[in-house]
Amino acid sequence: MSYHLSLTGANGVSDIYIETGLLGRAASLCGEAFTPSRVHIVTDSAVAPLYLEALASQFSLPVSHTVIPAGEEHKRLATVETIYHDLLAAGMTRGDLIIALGGGVTGDITGFAAATFLRGVPLCQIPTTLLAQVDSSVGGKTGVDLPEGKNLAGAFYQPRLVLIDPAVLQTLPAKTLADGMAEVVKYGYIANPAILEMAARPDYQNQIEALIYECVKIKRDVVAIDEHDTGLRMILNFGHTIGHAAEKLGHYVDLTHGQAVAIGMVAAMRLSAAMGNEDLSAPLVRLLTQLGLPSELRYDREAVYGALLSDKKKFGGTVNFILVREPGRAEITPIAAETLHDYILKL
Ligand SMILES: NC(=O)c1ccc[n+]([C@@H]2O[C@H](COP(=O)([O-])OP(=O)(O)OC[C@H]3O[C@@H](n4cnc5c(N)ncnc54)[C@H](O)[C@@H]3O)[C@@H](O)[C@H]2O)c1
Repeated sequence: MSYHLSLTGANGVSDIYIETGLLGRAASLCGEAFTPSRVHIVTDSAVAPLYLEALASQFSLPVSHTVIPAGEEHKRLATVETIYHDLLAAGMTRGDLIIALGGGVTGDITGFAAATFLRGVPLCQIPTTLLAQVDSSVGGKTGVDLPEGKNLAGAFYQPRLVLIDPAVLQTLPAKTLADGMAEVVKYGYIANPAILEMAARPDYQNQIEALIYECVKIKRDVVAIDEHDTGLRMILNFGHTIGHAAEKLGHYVDLTHGQAVAIGMVAAMRLSAAMGNEDLSAPLVRLLTQLGLPSELRYDREAVYGALLSDKKKFGGTVNFILVREPGRAEITPIAAETLHDYILKL
């Protein structure tokens, strides 16, 4: 199957294609969307040996590249500066094309470099993890971490083209695939319960293209309404508020992003139940366990609360919490910090 979605944002239209084998046609699709004189590919040290040559060799234009070290710890300004130097050395101009080939880390860093180099160079995202395919490559959030916290410096910058090839997921370690499934489950709970049924099938990987499409469609629809994250886009943060706190308490090493989101979704369900809503946590825990994801928050509750309050989604004395009332229906619920403290201690 082949899927196409488009997203109209402040800096133009993003075309998103989902198709097995798409990487093999990337240069021709880039040729339809852009008119560059040269191309610069940014990828990481784990993805480069697998896919860089297959992509670079398709272009009849001059192609240069930067291979950044793999890992979240390299998602920082120093890496962006390295990319700037390589872009200058290659003679890249604002009419040329930057391609991000990799997971969410590569996509976020490269997107930020593309947004800021010469005040903006056209960008194509070719995501190679499930998390990047269903989430980070779409919607235009780019950025890097600072020592004080994650994603604290960045820009909204839509890629003109997103090429999603599920075939590249075959080389992903099982744990990294499971990380992406945490975001897939998130989409199911916030907008479309059919996704949960698809994810629960033992052979879900056989229909991964359709699963990715259903998730990207939700992200596209949400971003189209609230590109700059001032309202509806917050529902994409279901599981992320406590998830980010857990990630922080684990020093970004003990838990991957997907694992933290899994734990955060269960905690959000239990918190919702503590507020008097129906307790939906049991089926969620079952699904996460089946997918190889954790569900228990193993940190001291006072520490969780402290980490949560330092999260950037706190506004004044309230935290915007995403609660799921029934599978497929999420609500942004402002909770006063003191009330939240009581609920967190009971988790
Ligand atoms: N911009 C957004 O909207 C958004 C949304 C969600 C998450 N994120 C960010 O995404 C990042 C996490 O992304 P991620 O989980 O993709 O991590 P990642 O980019 O670190 O990739 C995980 C690992 O998989 C390797 N890898 C990537 N593709 C591969 C492939 N096809 N085969 C084998 N190995 C492969 C990478 O080298 C890396 O070691 C975080 O920094 C998070 O903040 C951004």
